[in-house]
Amino acid sequence: MSKKLFIETLGCAMNSRDSEHMIAALKEKEGYETTDDMKNADLILINTCSVREKPVAKLFSELGVFNKKKKEGAKIGVCGCTASHLGEEIIKRAPYVSFVLGARNVSKIGEVLHKDKAVEVDINYDESEFAFDDFRTSPYKAYINISIGCDKQCTFCIVPKTRGEEISIPDELIVREAQRAVDNGAKEIFLLGQNVNNYGRRFSSSDHEKVNFTELLRRLSKIEGLRRIRFTSPHPFHMDDEFIEEFASNPKICKSMHMPLQSGSTKVLKDMKRGYSKEWFLNRVQKLREHCPEVSISTDIIVAFPGESEEDFEDTIDVMKQVKFDQIFSFKYSPRPETEAQHYSDVIDPEVASDRLSYLQALQTEMLDEKNKTQLGKTYEVYFEDLNADGYVSGRTDNNLVVKVKGSEELLGEFCDVKITKIGRTIFTGEIVA
Ligand code: 5AD
Ligand code: SF4
Repeated sequence: MSKKLFIETLGCAMNSRDSEHMIAALKEKEGYETTDDMKNADLILINTCSVREKPVAKLFSELGVFNKKKKEGAKIGVCGCTASHLGEEIIKRAPYVSFVLGARNVSKIGEVLHKDKAVEVDINYDESEFAFDDFRTSPYKAYINISIGCDKQCTFCIVPKTRGEEISIPDELIVREAQRAVDNGAKEIFLLGQNVNNYGRRFSSSDHEKVNFTELLRRLSKIEGLRRIRFTSPHPFHMDDEFIEEFASNPKICKSMHMPLQSGSTKVLKDMKRGYSKEWFLNRVQKLREHCPEVSISTDIIVAFPGESEEDFEDTIDVMKQVKFDQIFSFKYSPRPETEAQHYSDVIDPEVASDRLSYLQALQTEMLDEKNKTQLGKTYEVYFEDLNADGYVSGRTDNNLVVKVKGSEELLGEFCDVKITKIGRTIFTGEIVA
């Protein structure tokens, strides 16, 4: 009988792909099968995120629960960004943990599994040319890493400390992986990196041909049978005209752009070391919409960064009102170890921080409700990917709206024109039109 693996994945899409890589290695080389039942698992993995403080605090209580409820003899491994940043301390605080595997070391899963109390958290380890076995949670959409690590110095962000310096994966490996995914039936690829449009800045071999992100997109879009290309996250600083023009004119690139604003105040952006101003951000949005009016734009915003005045916050609100984002991921600033901003004075009162976040979120809901009303009766092409329990099948439009229709698995992996019949906050309902 095969051994059972229970894996919990927190955090971003990079973590989801890392989990797929670990599942691939454990299936192929160690004979594991995945299970949803933690109590029945022989190996329990938590793939952690450390971008904000709360999930880190929750990790130890969750580990305690897993340890109490796990099957006798089952191993627990902690992987991902919190593993990178806490390392050995995890085993000190939770001695029943069998191994700790950092976010940049997932290829070593087979090794640590057989060493008791192994800690592999080297952020200089280079996985950029490492070939993993094919395991994909979805047969319809293939997540593909294009770079590892991050070279930016955003003063709030722990990621450069957990994922190390940025190295681009050679484009020929990316194209080969995409081709394989398409040969296996995927019609969409989703390119992943901390800063995708900085692609090509550094390869592990110094004589690698200089291919930038725009050129990588061109090369990938030549793959026959590939219908859609998505990517996350691009950085507003690297959104040059060439990139925006390729984005707008290449029909395979989905017209949905994530533009992490973080703050609308030029002063706060400077303190965050983001490398752009309020005006630059607005100018890029304008350029993007000029070339691609149908684009949907999502963003990340941090409120109450140290020193954020009422006026700075108003600047963020002003950008929101001007851009009218299609989706906002908003967070209260959370001080992180090993970051520059943790030492900043002028910390914002937690109550003020909560008020700002609530105000921003209420405003976004109000603006989005207004915008969504205009979707009623429109027809979009939807790529169906998920079977829902309630007799519906859901998928996404090119510009990233989630739409469900009544239907069954025959629709999965198909493109259909769908007329929107009901508006929701996160998911729309529609009917297939002939
Ligand atoms: N506090 C709050 N939010 C943060 N993010 C990153 N670091 C922090 C932090 N210290 C947010 C940013 C980033 C997203 C993934 O998480 O908005 O874009
Ligand atoms: Fe992803 Fe950043 Fe969280 Fe790591 S810390 S899992 S890179 S969001």
